[in-house]
Amino acid sequence: MNNIPFFSLKEATEKIREEIDEAIAEVIDNTAFVLGPSLERFENNFAEYCGAGYCAGISSGTAALHLALLGYGIGTGDEVITVPNTFIATVEAIAMTGAKPVLVDVIEESALIDPAKLEEAITPKTKAIIPVHLFGQCCDMDPVMEIAGRHNLKVIEDSCQAHGARYKGKRAGSLGDAAAFSFYPSKNLGAFGEGGAITSGDEDFIARIKGFRHHGQLTKNMHSILGYNYRLHAIQAVILGVKLKYLDEANSKRRNLAERYRKNLEGLPIWIQSEQEGCMAVYHLFPVAYPNKPELTEALDRANISWGEHYPVPVHFQPVFSELGYGRDSFPIAEKLMETSITLPMFPELKLQQVDDVCKVLSDVSSGS
Ligand SMILES: Cc1ncc(COP(=O)(O)O)c(C=O)c1O
Repeated sequence: MNNIPFFSLKEATEKIREEIDEAIAEVIDNTAFVLGPSLERFENNFAEYCGAGYCAGISSGTAALHLALLGYGIGTGDEVITVPNTFIATVEAIAMTGAKPVLVDVIEESALIDPAKLEEAITPKTKAIIPVHLFGQCCDMDPVMEIAGRHNLKVIEDSCQAHGARYKGKRAGSLGDAAAFSFYPSKNLGAFGEGGAITSGDEDFIARIKGFRHHGQLTKNMHSILGYNYRLHAIQAVILGVKLKYLDEANSKRRNLAERYRKNLEGLPIWIQSEQEGCMAVYHLFPVAYPNKPELTEALDRANISWGEHYPVPVHFQPVFSELGYGRDSFPIAEKLMETSITLPMFPELKLQQVDDVCKVLSDVSSGS
C-alpha cells in the first residue's frame, strides 16, 4: 500500500541539522536575539539573492504585505487590486490598512493575474496592485508594471510562494516596486516558525519599513510614525541564512519533479498550471484541476496518497469579505479553478517513483479505467 506524504520537512532538516545548530549557537553567544548583526547579515544576503537591493526582515508574510502597503501610505479611502485565488492573507493585509480590496480575474492557463483585466478595475482611488506569484510562478510582470506606471500605482509582488522564481531572468522580489515574502516553515525557504521579509530597490523605502516594524522608530527613541512589533527574530534569520545556501538546489529538485508530473499527465483531461514564456517557476505547490474532484480525491485516498487544497474557497466567497459585494461568476476563471483543483505531493525529497505512482492514480481516474 502506498503512503505518499503531501509534504515533509524531516529529511531536509536532518541534512542540515549540524549547520543549523552552529548558527543558533552564534545567536545564543552574541545574545542579539532581536535585530542586530545576525539579522542584518541575512537581510543583505537575501536582498542579493533576489537581486533586489535592500531587504527588511519581518515577522511574517502577512505583516510584510501589511507594512509594504503602509510604507506607500495606503489606507482608508484607497483601493488596492489583487486576485481572488490567493491565500486570504493577501486580501487581509489590504483590509488591515483600511483600504478596499478590489479583485480581478486570472488567466486560465497560468492561474495568475490577467493584466488585460487590470485597466477596467482602476479608479481614481486605486493606489497599488498586488500580483500574486501563486504556486511559485511569477505573474506576467511587464504589462502589470506598464499599466501601473501609466496610472502612477505601486506594485507589491506577493512573493510568499515564489522564493527564487524568475521572470525574464530576474528573480521574484526584484520585479515590482517592493515584494513581500513569507518564511512560514512549509515555504520553499522556510523558518523554524513564523517569518517574512520585504525587498525593494528603494533604500529609503526599506529604511521606513525598518521603522514601521520597530514601533515606528525612524531614529532611536523617536516614534515618528504609528508602528508595529513586526521584527524577524535573529534565530529565524540565521536558520534562514543556512537554508538560503541550499535554496537553488532544492528548487531545481522541485522543477525535476514538476517536469515528471507534466510528462506523465500530458494528454489527460486534467488542468495543470502551464509554465509561461520567460518564467522559471519554483513549484511551491503542484496543483491540478479536474471537473469531478471528489472522484479524484477518493481515488488518491484509497491509494493512501496525501493531497492538499490551495485554496478551495475563493476570497470573495469567504464570509469575512462578503461586504466587498462580489458574487458567483464575478471571477469565473478563478472560481472554476479553485473549486475543481487540488494540490499534489511536492517537496524536494519526494521521489520520481512516487510522482509516477500519483500520476498512475490520476491517469486511471481521468481515463475511466
Ligand atoms: C500567497 C501568500 N500570501 C501571503 C501569505 C502569508 O504569509 P504568512 O503565513 O507568513 O503570514 C502566504 C503564506 O501562507 C501566501 O501563500
